[in-house]
Amino acid sequence: MDSLQQGDLPAPIRADIARLPVSGIHRVFMAGYGRPGLIPLWVGEGDQPTPAFIGEAATAALKAGKTFYNPKRGIPELRQALARYLSGLHARPVAAERVSVTSSGMTGLVTVIQTLIQPGDNVVVLTPVWPNIMAAIEVASGVVKPVGLDPRPEGGFRLDLDKVAAAIDGRTRAIFCASPGNPTGWMATAEEQQALLALCRRHRIWMIADEVYVRFVYGPGQRTAPSFLDFAAPDDPLLVCNSFSKAWAMTGWRLGWIVHPPALGETFDKLTEFTTSGAPHFLQYGAIAALEQGEPFVAELVERCRQSGEIVYQALASLPRVRLARPEAAFYAFFKLEGMDDSLAEALSLLERANVGLAPGSAFGPGGEGHLRLCFAASPARLAEAMERLRPALA
Ligand SMILES: Cc1ncc(COP(=O)(O)O)c(C=O)c1O
Repeated sequence: MDSLQQGDLPAPIRADIARLPVSGIHRVFMAGYGRPGLIPLWVGEGDQPTPAFIGEAATAALKAGKTFYNPKRGIPELRQALARYLSGLHARPVAAERVSVTSSGMTGLVTVIQTLIQPGDNVVVLTPVWPNIMAAIEVASGVVKPVGLDPRPEGGFRLDLDKVAAAIDGRTRAIFCASPGNPTGWMATAEEQQALLALCRRHRIWMIADEVYVRFVYGPGQRTAPSFLDFAAPDDPLLVCNSFSKAWAMTGWRLGWIVHPPALGETFDKLTEFTTSGAPHFLQYGAIAALEQGEPFVAELVERCRQSGEIVYQALASLPRVRLARPEAAFYAFFKLEGMDDSLAEALSLLERANVGLAPGSAFGPGGEGHLRLCFAASPARLAEAMERLRPALA
């Protein structure tokens, strides 16, 4: 089912909501869910539970009665912990007044879109991209203006800044860039980020930077991918969305944050009141523990992903039909499969032929068809087994 028919309903709902497509990832998920022995590499999360020290901090807060309504933008202790963490990670300091806690990275993105987009406004989105951002823009009756990253013949992608500049028009309110990117693993350079922000300053539009994967970078000694927070001034038109989900294995907690100009704090405070009314009280204490004690865990997780990514790269890149660059960031292998023009059909067929769940490239907007996405945030042993199964199926 692509979308709901109004005739199925007891009374009409907004037509653009009824038209929202079912994600291709979800279709493969539903087809493969519960298959005995399936190795699921289709969604963007790791296979490890949240580390115990984070859970214990939240449990202690729950026991201590941290169960009340709390400030909409997050408890001050968490906003301060985020400010310290970000100031230590990036080249420029981030003050707590620039930080708002959200109920997940996704909620942060929705909050930003709700704040900026009126019906008919558009957002220039670098694609292929995680489909949720495109849907969030459409739910706000905005228009997605996709700008495709250019595929490199040897695998991987590059950004053409001229194409981004040419896509901006009188109704453009923002540029959206996820770096490191999902599904591509592409990473903007510091120079490209500076050029994107300069474009936004010039056109008086916003830069929405999704930095959910900023810690997943595989160069030696790197703690973070290039970030807009390394150079942007507090009053730049910049909104950086991030999440506890990936780096601390907290997908089920639904906690994230936005870094924004100080002047927007009050707006986010008001808007949050009318949406989620704030993140759960006691969970925020777990998030503080993640920030303050989580560095060894993050380093271990990133190293595990690096090893798993290398296993996937070695196994797939040698196949004649596969085009894949060595993963530098995020935790996805987004590979082109020569001769495949229906990635949804291929992903469904791979369930049968390999018993491995992959996401179809067509789910990620323009430029995605012809590719499959494999999430390698799993143990090296599990990835090695998945590769044994996929190699003959993709040969
Ligand atoms: C690019 C990107 N941004 C944001 C998110 C949101 O993460 P969450 O809502 O779990 O915090 C995800 C999750 O997969 C993602 O891939």
